[in-house]
Amino acid sequence: MTDQAKTATLEFEGKSVDLPILSGSTGPDVIDIRKLYGGTGAFTFDPGFTSTASCESGLTYIDGDAGVLLHRGYPIDQLASKSNFVEVCHLLLHGELPTAAQYEKFENSITVHTMLHSQFDRFFEGFRRDAHPMAIMVGTVGALSAFYHDSLDIHDPVQRDISAIRLIAKMPTIAARAYKYHIGQPFASPRNDLSYAENFLRMCFAVPAEDYHVDPALVRAMDRIFILHADHEQNASTSTVRLAGSSGANPFACIAAGIACLWGPSHGGANEEALTMLKEIGTPDKIPEFIQGVKDRKFKLMGFGHRVYKNYDPRAKVMQQSAYEVLAATGRENDPLFQVAKELEKVALQDEYFTSRKLFPNVDFYSGITLSAMGFPTTMFTVLFALARTVGWIAQWQEMMADPSQKIGRPRQLYTGPTERDYLPIDQRG
Ligand code: ACO
Repeated sequence: MTDQAKTATLEFEGKSVDLPILSGSTGPDVIDIRKLYGGTGAFTFDPGFTSTASCESGLTYIDGDAGVLLHRGYPIDQLASKSNFVEVCHLLLHGELPTAAQYEKFENSITVHTMLHSQFDRFFEGFRRDAHPMAIMVGTVGALSAFYHDSLDIHDPVQRDISAIRLIAKMPTIAARAYKYHIGQPFASPRNDLSYAENFLRMCFAVPAEDYHVDPALVRAMDRIFILHADHEQNASTSTVRLAGSSGANPFACIAAGIACLWGPSHGGANEEALTMLKEIGTPDKIPEFIQGVKDRKFKLMGFGHRVYKNYDPRAKVMQQSAYEVLAATGRENDPLFQVAKELEKVALQDEYFTSRKLFPNVDFYSGITLSAMGFPTTMFTVLFALARTVGWIAQWQEMMADPSQKIGRPRQLYTGPTERDYLPIDQRG
């Protein structure tokens, strides 16, 4: 959206250029610098993209100072308490909450795509049993592009839709297989009579020797965790998916790139690190020593801080509530790690070191405790995040592919290496 009335004027080395100001539906205006290089010969410098809007998007809005997260306008706490993950997938992909008929059709399109090609299972056997499930995810999700050739034409909107549905439908099956392979149990096939979350829990925890019954409280918590992680604007992994997709790469390869980026401890890997941290602290009396270590910059308080939220992450509030519910449902109300987490949060929120830097709990602070109580090992935490974020990645990719102004992503740089010099033969080098 352009507001022709507003421009910013930039003067540089005697040249002046008028830069249009663009206004979105809400949030800060942006200065359109597309003509800056042509007008001045200078680039902008913004490592980490702290001041750069990389695209126009209508999916997700975050107000980091106010602690607000909206998907297509709907607040995350309303979606987490009133909606379900499949409905949120429809919302992200198609822009609106579905009618009853649309919901039935959409849910059915997902459930009929949950199975994997039988040849696909051979991939898992190629990995060592002690492989991290995220390593398996990066490899196998990329390999989907070798199986579904009929949905690889990225210029065909129908094929793009089929790929999106396939990814959302097959990701739980792949994630559960990565887990089962890791622990040496046989794979459980998807069951299309179950909800998205219940089917996933069953594929992870059912064994052939017993009937499997899952507590509805855990199904609800799983579904809510999926909703909380469904999309988050132009974060590192989403930007990776968009950048990979900008070259025309197929959607399965793009999502594999997103999974690789998500794996890092500053991003999706933080929930694994947060639980490890709580275990290392062990008991509330060790918190002061730990906090001192953070202040001495020996380590970070994992699950705290966020590039965008300079207030309480709205997802963290819902996640804390889910932690209470899951711990109650599993009889772990007095879980020592939960006691450590609650006390650590209280101490940090009163400490000037954290308040002055606007460091608040993020979604990962309580997710590790919750997932652990549900029976997942720490190595699966980021896998669950990847599963849930797949809809956000693919919806953002879809939006980019439908955008007529889409170009290959190609940032520039501030070059600080040697200037041009002549090659010297080896016997003349000092
Ligand atoms: N613990 C201690 N200090 C911190 C933390 C933390 N978790 N996060 C930031 N700081 C400090 C920095 O040291 C810095 O202090 P300084 O100004 O005195 O040098 C200041 O706060 C600003 O931090 P930046 O690194 O500039 O913040 P940035 O926006 O680049 O980092 C990030 C955001 C990467 C999330 C960071 O807060 C972090 O590493 N947190 C821990 C990991 C984590 O929980 N990640 C999950 C993010 S949410 C998600 O991916 C779903």
